[in-house]
Amino acid sequence: MSQFLSNCSVDALATAAQSLKEGSLVTFPTETVYGLGADATNTKAVARIYEVKGRPTDHPLIVHIADLKYLKQWISNIPEYAIALARKFWPGPMTLILQRSELAKDFLTGGQETVGIRIPDNSLALGLLEAFHNLGGAGIAAPSANRFGQVSPTTAEAVQEELGNYLSDTDLVLDGGPSVVGVESTIIDCTGQLPKILRPGAITIEMIEEVSGLKVSDSTDKKSDVFKQEDIRVSGSLENHYAPKAKVFLDQQPVDGSGFIALESIITPDGVIRLAAPESVQEFARVLYSALREGDHQGLSSIYIDQPSGDGLAIAIRDRLSRSAKGR
Ligand code: TXA
Ligand code: MG
Repeated sequence: MSQFLSNCSVDALATAAQSLKEGSLVTFPTETVYGLGADATNTKAVARIYEVKGRPTDHPLIVHIADLKYLKQWISNIPEYAIALARKFWPGPMTLILQRSELAKDFLTGGQETVGIRIPDNSLALGLLEAFHNLGGAGIAAPSANRFGQVSPTTAEAVQEELGNYLSDTDLVLDGGPSVVGVESTIIDCTGQLPKILRPGAITIEMIEEVSGLKVSDSTDKKSDVFKQEDIRVSGSLENHYAPKAKVFLDQQPVDGSGFIALESIITPDGVIRLAAPESVQEFARVLYSALREGDHQGLSSIYIDQPSGDGLAIAIRDRLSRSAKGR
């Protein structure tokens, strides 16, 4: 059983950074979802991430850093457009895939020649990262803090529920309240001449095109021919992912006794259990994963979801929901 820290003072963050340095795991909040962190240069600690998550070892991890000045050591090359994106959107819900340096070892990248990097926009995460860098740490590897294939946690309680049985007593769970974005970061492959979205998120295609001045391809768009076999290594792009225990049905008439999630403007059909009624697409993203978890807590066998329409964050929501609906 891990230790649960809900009052994260500077001292607590220094202690957590020290634990990371000693090879323990520390789960921490970010603005997207909670992460399961380890020293990204420590092969044993990173191996424990895969064990605790139950994730195949060829699925690469994202390295989190506190500031742009820690980027250079991780990469061997960066195109101009990626520098522009980093300056504009970091700290923020965006992961850049770049050519790796020697520091990013196979045990971190799943043997790929690229590495994913992100500066999260959450004061507790940044405080932890700063404290870790102060101890000489290069970066914190962190996937979402859920078991493989399941719904990402957006609260410390959800982390505890997902991973509590798998963490050891030297590991720490940091509590920073609910994540404000609620869906995972946009992943942008920056190894080609043009940026390519591997996973949609709160940094949208329009935002990327505006800042880069380039045409962006979206490999998550099934109609697009850029979705190649190698992208399957992005485990979040596997078809059955983000799945609760309940069966998820999209845009269908709900049956009696099932859970229901839709925008507030949509009336609750008779006989269903309303799990969330968000007022906006932003709120939809923020509450979605906790609403799915709530459905599981209530032991519901099915959850019906009316998906938000439109572009932007709604694309990320529909991306995750289409995978949730494929089940486990
Ligand atoms: O919002 C987020 O990105 C959260 C928070 C904790 O930062 N992290 C997260 O990590 O969602 P994870 O591991 O659950 O999802 C990251 C995805 C995985 O599907 C992984 O395969 C992909 O990013 N990825 C990481 N490095 C990659 C690389 N070098 N090339 C291609 N895909 C990569
Ligand atoms: Mg994940």
